Amino acid sequence: MAAHSPEDPISTIPGQIATNRLLPVVTIEDAAAAPALGEALRRGGLPCAEITLRTPAAEDALKALAANDDLLVGAGTVLNEKQAGRVIDLGARFVVTPGFSLSVVRHCQARGIPVFPGIATSTELMMALDAGIDTVKFFPAERLGGLATLKALAQPFGMVKFIPTGGVSAANVRDYLAHPSVPAAGGSWMVPVSLINGGRFDEIERLTTEAAAIATGDTD
Ligand code: 3PG
Repeated sequence: MAAHSPEDPISTIPGQIATNRLLPVVTIEDAAAAPALGEALRRGGLPCAEITLRTPAAEDALKALAANDDLLVGAGTVLNEKQAGRVIDLGARFVVTPGFSLSVVRHCQARGIPVFPGIATSTELMMALDAGIDTVKFFPAERLGGLATLKALAQPFGMVKFIPTGGVSAANVRDYLAHPSVPAAGGSWMVPVSLINGGRFDEIERLTTEAAAIATGDTD
């Protein structure tokens, strides 16, 4: 796989995500697991995470992980402006939303925090463009037709960068990442809830190492 050259400089958050090429999507049920999880991601070579607001523990976990300077930590499943404000206060360096919310986008922009709204259609993409967004989450990628749909959307919207998420796995991520409009992909396969709950951080590190190698093409 050809190396991807991120258009965004490494000094920016989008640039760092594009350099990592993978964004682990974390659902965490016990914030006490956060430090070990962060270490496993760092040791596995993906020092970044999107912490989804799907559990009562998510905000505490986000705060703990965001305090670690070795990690790039953002919040996902942000559904409204109030949540956006809270996660930014807790230290989220970027915000991801499953769909397009203008109020969330405006809030993040006003606070200088990159936001990657979820889009599934051309109409949502045009709303995102109108709001000044150039990188979106293509979600739920596999359910929407996967790479074939992403390719079709990328034709009229060549200026947009897509982060496909939802059903992305070790088996298909390489194909997504080979597309020039895809700086990075998101997924939970290297950080399954069952392994986090079971304290199996060595296995998370192993899956992360494997994912990072696929993402950078080191397995070719
Ligand atoms: C997300 O919110 O981004 C998805 O739940 C992640 O999808 P996955 O679990 O299929 O990787």
